[in-house]
Amino acid sequence: MARLAASEVKAVGILGTGVIGGSWAAHFLRQGLDVVAFDLAPGAEARLTERIEKLWPTLEALGLKPGADKSRLEFVDSLEALGAKVPLIQESTPEDLQAKQTLFAEIDAAIPEDVIIASSTSGFPMTDIQKLCKHPERTVVCHPFTPPHIVPFCEVAGGQKTAPEVVDWAADFFQHYGKEVAKMDKELPGFIGNRLQDALWREALHMVANNECSVEDIDKSIAYGPGLRWAIFGPCMNMAMCGGEGGMARMLDHFGPSLKEPWTRLEAPELTEQLYNDLVEGSDQVLGGRSMAELMEERDELLVRILKTIEDYRQEKSLQT
Ligand SMILES: NC(=O)c1ccc[n+]([C@@H]2O[C@H](COP(=O)([O-])OP(=O)(O)OC[C@H]3O[C@@H](n4cnc5c(N)ncnc54)[C@H](O)[C@@H]3O)[C@@H](O)[C@H]2O)c1
Repeated sequence: MARLAASEVKAVGILGTGVIGGSWAAHFLRQGLDVVAFDLAPGAEARLTERIEKLWPTLEALGLKPGADKSRLEFVDSLEALGAKVPLIQESTPEDLQAKQTLFAEIDAAIPEDVIIASSTSGFPMTDIQKLCKHPERTVVCHPFTPPHIVPFCEVAGGQKTAPEVVDWAADFFQHYGKEVAKMDKELPGFIGNRLQDALWREALHMVANNECSVEDIDKSIAYGPGLRWAIFGPCMNMAMCGGEGGMARMLDHFGPSLKEPWTRLEAPELTEQLYNDLVEGSDQVLGGRSMAELMEERDELLVRILKTIEDYRQEKSLQT
């Protein structure tokens, strides 16, 4: 199916304008697109307009893209009108599988078959959501992280009946409009980011449940510890840096045996030769020719800036109160 190139898109649809849908609307307005929105709750239009007004200074601080204008928001009163002028609709209605299945069947029947329907679902596989659709090939997950008008990451994944060209197009579209995209070939429950977040969260719950440490210490251990580094590079390259200039291979040689220690309730997989090589090759790909020393220099300089930003902000706030 011939589709517009992402750069030629003029408008995007928003289905459901609550916490996430409203934030998506703000994001796309900032990107210089027309935003067409629909929500069936009474007063939704006024709430969204007021929210965009409030968010605008933040969007300005993030940097408005050419053509960005809050007056480019239009609220419509039917699914048909929502699908009439846009190549993609981002669905952000409550996390209820049955309700999403019914809504996807309704919107699928109401709008032209070339319009892509993307879901913000936090964890339902598209294979389940698309079950009642006549044109499931145009449905895809695009899972954002809250708040999507600020946090730039999203994961794009199709279901069993999604056309691969739809996954490719959606990934290009979100990448073009301000997102860092992980395009997933496999439909994994919880996708990537929530799976990782949840592993940490579950361990935190175990530690509190067993009176092993306080909520405060758990939060401190991340906010003043690895969390600072994760804002710069993810968990894999940060572990690689624990190997110094020898990177991932040295870290695995050095710390691989400690995977057998009972440090978490989540069991580590066997560190097979295949896993070892995949990790080393994967980090080489991320490095893209840079040295570990360069990466560590960037980490350290950014850590200093992040710490300074946090300190300045807290000092400014305490002076204000
Ligand atoms: N809140 C988060 O942190 C977060 C983060 C990432 C993804 N998500 C996902 O985003 C989706 C939306 O979550 P939320 O927190 O924005 O929920 P929300 O309750 O804040 O908003 C849902 C909106 O959908 C509207 N709605 C419900 N049924 C509708 C229908 N049939 N047609 C049109 N509008 C309808 C409601 O009126 C409401 O405004 C969920 O799938 C959730 O899992 C949420």
